[in-house]
Formats: sequence, C-alpha cells, structure tokens
Amino acid sequence: MKMPIGINMVENTNSAEDMNSSRLSEDSNQSENEHGLSFLEDSLMYQLPNDYFSPDEQKENTTISVHQNTGINEEEEDERAVENQHHINEGSSPSETITKSSPSNDKCVGSNKRSRTQFEIDNHETRGVYFEPPRKKEASFGMKVMTMMGYQKGRGLGKNNQGRLEPVVAFHQKGRRGFAFEYTELKEAVTKWDPSLEVVEVDTKVKWMINELTPPSEHEMKDWIQEGEKKNTIDDETLFCDKNILQQIIKSKSIFDKFDKHEMRRARTRSNPFETIRGVFFQNRAAVKMAEMDKACDFMFTRPNGLEMHNPLYFADVCAGPGGFSEYVLWRRKWIAKGFGFTLRNSNDFKLEEFFAGPPETFHPYYGPKEDGNIYDTENQKALANLIMQQTKGQGVHFMMADGGFSVEGKENIQELLSKQLYLCQCLVALMIVREGGHFVTKLFDLFTTFSAGLIYLMSRCFKKISIFKPNTSRPANSERYLICQEKLPNINDVIAHLQHANEILLDGNKETDLVQLVPLEILQKNELFYQYLKESNDTLGNKQINGLLKIAAYCENIALIEERQSSIRTECLLHWELPDQSRTVPRYSRPEDRLQTILGSKFSAISDKAPHEIAITDADNTVCNPPCNWLFFPSAYNKSMPIECQPTLYYGMGRTRVHRLVKGTWHAVTGIELPPDTLVYAEMITEYRSEGKKQMKTHTLYIVDAWLLGAQDISQKFLPDRQYLIHQFCETLWKPTNNSFARVRPGKLHSLDEDMTRTIPLKSIQMKNGLDVMAYYPPQPSYSLNLNNDNEPFYYIPSGIIFMNFTRKPWSVHLSRSTGLHYFFNSKTNDKVYNDKRPQSAEADFSYSFEKRIILDVTNNESSSINLLNTKTKAKCCIPPRQ
Ligand SMILES: C[S@@+](CC[C@H](N)C(=O)[O-])C[C@H]1O[C@@H](n2cnc3c(N)ncnc32)[C@H](O)[C@@H]1O
Repeated sequence: MKMPIGINMVENTNSAEDMNSSRLSEDSNQSENEHGLSFLEDSLMYQLPNDYFSPDEQKENTTISVHQNTGINEEEEDERAVENQHHINEGSSPSETITKSSPSNDKCVGSNKRSRTQFEIDNHETRGVYFEPPRKKEASFGMKVMTMMGYQKGRGLGKNNQGRLEPVVAFHQKGRRGFAFEYTELKEAVTKWDPSLEVVEVDTKVKWMINELTPPSEHEMKDWIQEGEKKNTIDDETLFCDKNILQQIIKSKSIFDKFDKHEMRRARTRSNPFETIRGVFFQNRAAVKMAEMDKACDFMFTRPNGLEMHNPLYFADVCAGPGGFSEYVLWRRKWIAKGFGFTLRNSNDFKLEEFFAGPPETFHPYYGPKEDGNIYDTENQKALANLIMQQTKGQGVHFMMADGGFSVEGKENIQELLSKQLYLCQCLVALMIVREGGHFVTKLFDLFTTFSAGLIYLMSRCFKKISIFKPNTSRPANSERYLICQEKLPNINDVIAHLQHANEILLDGNKETDLVQLVPLEILQKNELFYQYLKESNDTLGNKQINGLLKIAAYCENIALIEERQSSIRTECLLHWELPDQSRTVPRYSRPEDRLQTILGSKFSAISDKAPHEIAITDADNTVCNPPCNWLFFPSAYNKSMPIECQPTLYYGMGRTRVHRLVKGTWHAVTGIELPPDTLVYAEMITEYRSEGKKQMKTHTLYIVDAWLLGAQDISQKFLPDRQYLIHQFCETLWKPTNNSFARVRPGKLHSLDEDMTRTIPLKSIQMKNGLDVMAYYPPQPSYSLNLNNDNEPFYYIPSGIIFMNFTRKPWSVHLSRSTGLHYFFNSKTNDKVYNDKRPQSAEADFSYSFEKRIILDVTNNESSSINLLNTKTKAKCCIPPRQ
C-alpha cells in the first residue's frame, strides 16, 4: 500500500494500536497507583484465575510465557501490544512456548511485530534510546516521486494545477489523545528529562548504615510517643528531604494526573530498562525483587551465616499474598526451608497452586485467631509469634520479609501517611519473630515524616546494620523502597512494647488526632549518622523517581522512543542474580511409574518389587541377632493378618496431595497426605491415638522409616543414620497443624538393637475406647506440635510388629568392643577393624541395600514377651566378637 506523502509509518502503526486499545474498558478492575504504590503494580499479577489453564494445558509439560501466569488484564494486554510493536520483549504469544531473552529476538519480524527500520537504527540511536526520525528525508523522497509525476512547486495537483499546495499533514495522534489535544505539562516535562542522569547498574550496592548503639530502653523512650493533628498533605515534609526535590517529586507525579492510564503504562513499560525481566519463572515480579535483594545482600537471607544448607531455614513472609517472595526462597532451598506466611484473606491471598518454582508443602499460611490475616490486629500478631516460637524451639525465624501495600488511588501523594500502620506493624512483628542475629526486609514508600523517620531510627537501633534500598526490579518512577535490617540485637523487648503501644493508639482510630511521633525530632536530628543517611537516601531516591517520571513523560510524548537496553540488561541481571534464564513451567502430571522411570531409571525397577523377609522370633538367632549391632529397628503396627494395602511400603509424593503407594507392583493413589514433589520413602501408615477410654481419639500418621528421595533430593547413597537425620528434618519442616482428614507425617525413629529395648521402646498399658487393655508405644513427641486439635496430648500407637533395617553392607559388620564400649566395623574378608569415625563408604548400606535386606517380625498379642525374648537374645550376642 502506498503511503501518503509525509506520513510517518511508526506513528501510524501506533495509532492503529491505540485505536484498538481505546476500545478496552477504561475502568480496569485493577486500580493503579503509578506514583508510588508498587503493590498495585504487582497486583497486576494477582489476576490469574485458578482455572486459567485448561486441563489439556495442565497435562502438558507446558512452558508458558510469564504473561500467562501473571494473569493478563487489560493493562498488561496494553503493555504487551506496545512490547510487540517495539520488540522490547520476546514477543511470544501467550500460548507459545517461548525461549526468553534471546537477543536475536530483538531483530525478528513477525506478523504482529514491527522491526526497527534501518533508518531508525542508523540515525537515531542516542544513549540507548531511539528518537523519532525527522521527516525531512521522507518528504524529499516523496517530493522526488511527485516531481517525476509532474508536480511543480507552488502548483496544485489537479488537472488545471488546482488543489492544495501543501502535503497532507502527518497523522499525529498520541495514544488515545484527541487530535487537537495538546498536553502542555507533558511537553514541559520532556524538556526537563535528562537521560544522562539515569544510572543503570546491574550490580546495585547496598549502602549500609552501621549502628553503634544498643536498643533504647523503656526509660529512654518514656514520652517519645506523641499524637498530633491529622494531616492529609506531605508538601511541607522537608525535614528529611531537600525541599526542591520534594516539590519536584510531587510536580512530576502530577503530570500524569489527567493523563490516560493505558498510555502512561505503555510508556512506562517501554522506558524502564529493567521492565522485561518480569517474573522470570516465578509467579510474579515480586519474587524477582526478592532474588535481587538477596543477591545484593550476599545471599544473607537464603544462605545465612552459620546455617548449613542441610539444616532448615526458617522464614516468615508477612503481608505476602500471593506469595512470590516465598516462592523464591523455596526455589532456592526446596524443602530445607520452613515458611510461615501471613496475609489478608482476600483476593490477594496466597496462591500455593502457583508455586511452580518452589514447593509449597513446607510453607504454612496462617491467618491468626481471627482468621482474617490482618497484621494490625494485636491478637493476630501474638498468635503468629507464638506459632513461630513453638516451631523454632523458641528462637524465631532466620529472617522475615514484608511487602505490604494497598490501593491509595487518588491519594498517591499521601501514601506514606495512609500506610503508617502498615509500616509500623510490619516492623513490630519482625522484632517479635526474628531470632537474634536474624534479618528483616520490608517494603516502604516515601519516608518524609517524623513518624517514618522515628520508625527507621528505632529499627536501626535494634539491628547491627540497616539499609534503605531500591532494587532495579522496583520501577524507578514509584516511591517504593525496602528497609533491610541485618542481625537483630538482643534486648529489644522495650522497643516491642513501645511499638505495641503505638499500634494501640492507631487501632483506637481517634478521628481528631493522629500518632505523629515515635521518636522526638531532636533525637533524630542529633544522631548525625542516622539523619544524614535518611536525608541522603530520600534525596537520591527522590531524584531517581523524578527522572523516572520525566522519562515516562518523554516516552508518552514521543511514542517512537524505545529503551533498547532491555534485552541485554535482562540477560545480565539474571546472570548476576544467579537466576537461570528459564520460562515458567507448569509441572507435568505424569504417572508415578513414568516419572520414577525418568528420574531413577532401572535402579528403581530393580528394588521396587522386593517383599520384606518375614521371620518368627525363633529365627532371630540366625538373622537379626547375627550380629544385632548391624540392625536398627522400628516398632511397627504390622501383623501378618493386616491387609496388604495397609502394610508398610514405598510411598511416592508428586507434590501437594498427589501421593501414591506401591501395592504388589502397582501404584495406588492415597488421599489425605501432602508430600513435596519427588519424595520416595519407605513408610507405614499407622493409626495414632490420643487419650484413653471414652476420650480416645484416633488419627492417621505416615511414619517414614527410610527414604530414597526427599523433595527431589536424592539421599539414597547416604548412611542410614544420616538418612534418618534428614527424614527428621524433613518431617519437621513439613509439619503444620491439620485437621483430622489429613494424615500427619512423622519420622519413624529407628532404634539400636543392641540397646536395652525395654528402655528404648517402653510399652505402657492403655485402655482403648472399647474397654480393652493393650500395650501402647509412645514414639518421640516432637517439640514443634501445637496446642491445636489436641495435638498437645501425647500420642501413641499399638505396635504389633518390628521392622529391622540393616545399615551395614557385607563383608562389613558392626560389633561392640568389650574393652572400649564403642562400636567398630569389621571386614570378614580382610579382618580389618575400624571404629565408626573411620568407616569406609563401602561399609555403609545405601537405601537399596537396607530396603532389600529389611526383615519384618510379627509380635501380635505377645508384644512384651516377644520383645523381652528378643532383648535377651540380642544382649547375649551383641558383645561377642565374630569367630574367623
Ligand atoms: C504487594 S502485595 C505482596 C506481594 C508479595 N510479596 C509476593 O511476593 O507475591 C501486598 C500484600 O499486602 C497485603 N496486605 C495489605 N494490608 C495488609 C494487612 N493489614 N495485613 C496483612 N496483609 C496486608 C495485601 O493483601 C497484599 O497481599
């Protein structure tokens, strides 16, 4: 199609898009606060309906674009339209499998894609930005064509030289603006935008402020809290920020007050160098923010000093729905992390079904006794702290993240004033639940008021170091920033009480006055280090925000501008943050046998059908007592007459409640248990009881005796006692209070056979509900159980069998030295003898060996006498060194 002379093709294309997008509803259900409320920016990600993927898509191992998972609404559609036009994103359609961030994609041309013309590339590249091409060249080309067709300057094109003397003016519509619309504020803003002020650094450094003071005491803080007049403006809050900067922030934000939201968002998408990073393979952008902050702090969150990678990391995620932060942490640590989530129970609730990257089974969403998840509520705060203390042996979490935000549409400038209780409660809860030496990160917005400054000051005195940090993944034009606090100090209880008192004032909601001060201004100003740090941070972030806003204005004004660094920055950032450049993948739901074949191959089929060796007590001399030190045993509820479906066997967890049990070579689905994906264990489902007689209650519990895979971690080659230790950790992180329709999962403690069994597994007479007296066994009671659903009552079960697991591999066997009283390993081929600390790996039974050699003994109806007999036999043998 021939273009009319003077028409700029770039603008024309955009206009068509804009015409289309103008048909989209204006009142998107996501209100947006571009000027500072990143929650709403992130909340764009919350719209994915649960049934977003068709069953077919779910079955497939579909690799999908991030857009698809973050929930597409009109706003994102708009952004994507712009991205497709300008090739700043990979340009995949939602249903396509995409390879993200291929640099070559920048140049590709698709049906709905527009590549840059060579003209633009050659002539308009400046500081990574493309400027609108001047029209002179096109006009002169058109002029040549017209001249060839007989056009003479100053004459019309009609037969008699009649008609207009000037070319038709280019189609100049910007976004959805009317043709005649002139937006002077925008034009003015464009002249102020200085691209050279933009600092684009992948390796952002955290600037720490080191605290040299101890936490303030109750006495010191007496009379610090003050109430004052309620405010609804921040224009005069210049105590902690340069006056001009504050004014410019407010002015730059107001450019967009009357501006079309869609147009502004598209300009924001085009202008932000970090925009196309999006959520990578996580459910939202927030997850990547946490990844960036973790890296910026040398992974102090996910790899805290002093915590070995095989020991569970305890964390809390507060104001946290839908849970991207936690998904990131769980992706890094897998099941070796226990998360406590707390967020409002509403449309932004946790979306555990979206935790594709990090398994959610060890994540415990909690909503407090009010069941509303409101962090302002005092009872909720205390209950969350109790829960965490109970499960962390009174220590608290290694770190807490908080990312609270809510809509302040139309009141963007006073977001800080509206969010003060959120600021306060997030900090307060951190002081209540983070362990000594632990860390905290929380989202904040503007920090101009004495109230906010006082809160930061108090936090700075409760930790060794603090930093106010804006990650690259937080859009430059908003006022979002994060307070990062490193290494909590002891003796902070008075500060907790101070903040609790402040929260009570805020909860009171006195309409006339407001809480305006936590720390007196003189104290804040007198502390030079603190005062300068905050002021410099406000000024620096303020300038960054102003420049970001002006840049968006320039991109609104000139729709040909493209931030061409987006693709390379994305690649560099992912590399720097140690995130693989992968797409988000919906887990494949395959059959257990197929999945196991894929991950374990023939190793699994070799052992899967092996039945245990069943013995009678009379066989003990030639089996488990020869020698007894080779064996560990588990008191089981097994008996010969038990149906095969209930017998101890292999269980395979494929994530959440997709759990299967192997019965006669076939996998059967089991309901009511949750296990992380790729968990393969040898376990027994046991009926557990609490209380006696009429009050007796029963629940089902899966006791894990041994494990091959724990949440995709292959532990099969470890020594059996080491596997036991990991099983113990696994059950601890997995534990959460459940109702009785869900089975608990516990470690099946293995005992040494050479110890006195009457001491290791004491049996106690118990009266059952039907009045019968039976011998019961009380397994170790975990300290993390809660006073919930009677979980605080000691639990027991009725043993009727014993499972023996061999932990050493022939020709090695284990014996007890008479002289030292220590166990030693003896090699019957070489006659080598070594103590446990020198044992060679060849002496250790791996999972397959222990599983194949397992022995099972039925002791029904005569538990005590069988156990006594076995005890006598083992004691008679365990000290005797083997004969050659
Ligand atoms: C930006 S979102 C958090 C995003 C989250 N970090 C993630 O990674 O997915 C803000 C969250 O704060 C929550 N929130 C706001 N006010 C709250 C309150 N008073 N108590 C608890 N949660 C609150 C919102 O419901 C929302 O889930």
